[in-house]
This record gives sequence, structure tokens and C-alpha cells, in this order.
Amino acid sequence: MKTIKLAIFDSKPYDREFFDKVNRESGFNYSLHYFPSHLTVDTAPLTAGFDAVCAFVNDTVDSDVTSILYNNGVRLIALRCAGYNNVDLKAVFNKIHVVRVPAYSPHAVAEHAIALIMTLNRKTHRAYFRTRDANFTLNGLLGFDMFEKTAGIIGTGKIGKIAISILRGFGMNVLAYDKYPDDTFAKESGCTYTDLATLYNKSDIISLHCPLTPENVHMINSSTIDTMKDGVMIINTGRGKLIKTQDLIDGLKKHKIGAAGLDVYEEESDYFFEDFSVNSIGDDTLARLLTFPNVLITSHQAFFTREALDNIAQTTFENISLYFNGRQMPNEICYRCMEGKCPKNENGRCF
Ligand code: NAI
Repeated sequence: MKTIKLAIFDSKPYDREFFDKVNRESGFNYSLHYFPSHLTVDTAPLTAGFDAVCAFVNDTVDSDVTSILYNNGVRLIALRCAGYNNVDLKAVFNKIHVVRVPAYSPHAVAEHAIALIMTLNRKTHRAYFRTRDANFTLNGLLGFDMFEKTAGIIGTGKIGKIAISILRGFGMNVLAYDKYPDDTFAKESGCTYTDLATLYNKSDIISLHCPLTPENVHMINSSTIDTMKDGVMIINTGRGKLIKTQDLIDGLKKHKIGAAGLDVYEEESDYFFEDFSVNSIGDDTLARLLTFPNVLITSHQAFFTREALDNIAQTTFENISLYFNGRQMPNEICYRCMEGKCPKNENGRCF
């Protein structure tokens, strides 16, 4: 059988390490080509001669990129992530199949969200630098007991549920909001589903674990922030555009928001995963965020564990194998799937 040629965009040394290892050890034997650049309209022409494209969170698959890939003969985009908000699912429909990795380690992301909470609360990010400078004072490092405080979790899918279980382990009360509440899980975990307004109003910590969809863009904005508790901590490991960043900054400046932990940022694609330590940051909003001692930004690293990278490579390669062997593709997505009404054809595919 012909060797399948895969173009892997936005690839970093760690992608190469895990993809090469799984390719070798699991016997896929694909021909892998690593492009460090993002997939954009400028880099899409590089896909000439490839059978499939592997893209990540900050690659762009809009209608222009779709046309170039399609004209180059690419018929499969294998996302090596769960989110697909960077793909124009209507533009690709009927042209290029899109598969993703729906779950690779929900534990990795949930545990990172908790790491952000713990760091911001007990200010270990500041204590670390202070003691290294032989400054053993405690001023400014005061935290709060998480026990019996209230956490509000938005989105109770795979990641949100694990976050809830961990927070319940701290003895926190947990309010949850989801478009599709899971009452059985609520009973088992002891969380309480509520409406968004109540969650905003009653939570000491709010953590976002829902996907970004057209309906929830900027759900955290000045109006919703106004209804929150004074000193609320906001954690976002979901997607950057769930938060209107300028409104978050205003809330921080007014001390309405006590702390913010952000693993995602609405304009992250120009910066995250890259080294700007010898350049200045041109994005004034990001630069302003970085000035707050009570803001902790991580660079979309919540997924970044060994277990997750291994699972991502394995599932991505399996998805590709199913496509080229004409099999059903459980991880295929299309815009109709997202509306819950994809009929799937006789081959179990979206088109
Ligand atoms: P999931 O699909 O298991 O759960 C998402 C939940 O959100 C579902 O229960 C769904 O009903 C709910 N939901 C959908 N729209 C909603 C809305 N408008 N308001 C409230 N709830 C809504 O997804 P999973 O695996 O838990 O991931 C959640 C999100 O986390 C992903 O969509 C992705 O954006 C983000 N993520 C971030 C990573 C990182 O490294 N920072 C890594 C992986 C995922």
C-alpha cells in the first residue's frame, strides 16, 4: 500500500518526539513532514503532494485555506486537539473530512485549572521569587481556605466533571452550569446545577470548561463581571474568546476581580507557543495583563502532559488510518454534528 504523506503544521520538538515514537512503535509508518509554521493561507500551498494535514489549535482552516488544500488534493484534516473553533466547518463540508481527538487527557486540563487556582490563591508564583531573593516576608501572600467556598464550573463535560470532583475533594461547594445538565453526575459528585446568573452571583471561583461557540463568545464581559462577587477568581482553560479581555482588565483594575488564571487568550495565536523573550510584545492588551501580580498566564499548556501527547499521537494516527482504510470515523465532525443532527452516510461518515 502507498505510504501516506502527512503534513504536520505548527509542530514543535515535543510533537515530533511523540509523533515519531507512536509512528514507529505502533507500526503506522506514515511519512511525516513537520512544518513549524501555522497553517494559514500563506502556508497552505506547502501541502501540495500530501495526503492529509495535521493541524493544531492556532492553525486556521477558513474557506481560503480550504480551497488551497482541496486543490492540492488534500481530503483529510486531522486535528490534534479537541476544539475545532478554528475550522470553518461549513467551508470544508463536502470537500475535506475533519477528524479530531475528542479526549486525550481531560485530567491534564482539569489538573492544570486547579494548579492555576492554587497558585493564584496561595501566591506560590510570588513566594518562589521572593524566597529566592532571600526575602522571607509574608506581606501580600495572604490566601483563603478553599474549604466551604463556592466554585462555579461552566461546562460539565469530560474536563469540567474532573475539575468538580477535585474541587469537591477540597470540601468546596460547587455550582455548575451546562447547556445539557447531567443530573446523575450532580447526585454522585454533590454539585448543584444552576442558571448562569446564580453561578456568577454566588461563586468565589469561576472556571470555564465549555467549548467556544457563536452563542458564548465574550460570555465573561463587563455586564456579567458586574454581577459577580467582589474579589472573584476567574479561570479560563477553555478558549480565549469566552472572555472579553479588555473587560477583564477593567475588572482587575477596579479590584472587582481578585485574580485571573488564563491558559488561553483571545489573541493567543500570534504569541502562544513562541519565544518573545528578546522581542517586545506588540499586543498592548496582553502586555497589560502581564503587569498584574494577580494574573497568571500559561501558554495553552493545560493539555501538556506525557499521557496527553501520547494519546494525541495515537488517536490522530488511528483517525487517519480509519479514513484511508475506508472505515467509519467516530471522531469525524461536521457542522451538522455540532447541531446534533448529522445523519451520517452508509459508511458512517458525515458526507
Ligand atoms: P466536552 O465536549 O466533554 O464538554 C463540553 C461541555 O460543555 C458539554 O457538557 C457541553 O454540553 C457544554 N457546553 C456546550 N456549550 C455550552 C455553553 N454555551 N454553555 C455551557 N456549557 C456548554 O469537552 P471537554 O473535553 O470537557 O473540553 C472542554 C473545552 O476545553 C474544549 O471545548 C476546549 O475548548 C477546552 N480545552 C482546552 C485545552 C487546553 O489545553 N487549554 C485542552 C482541551 C480542551
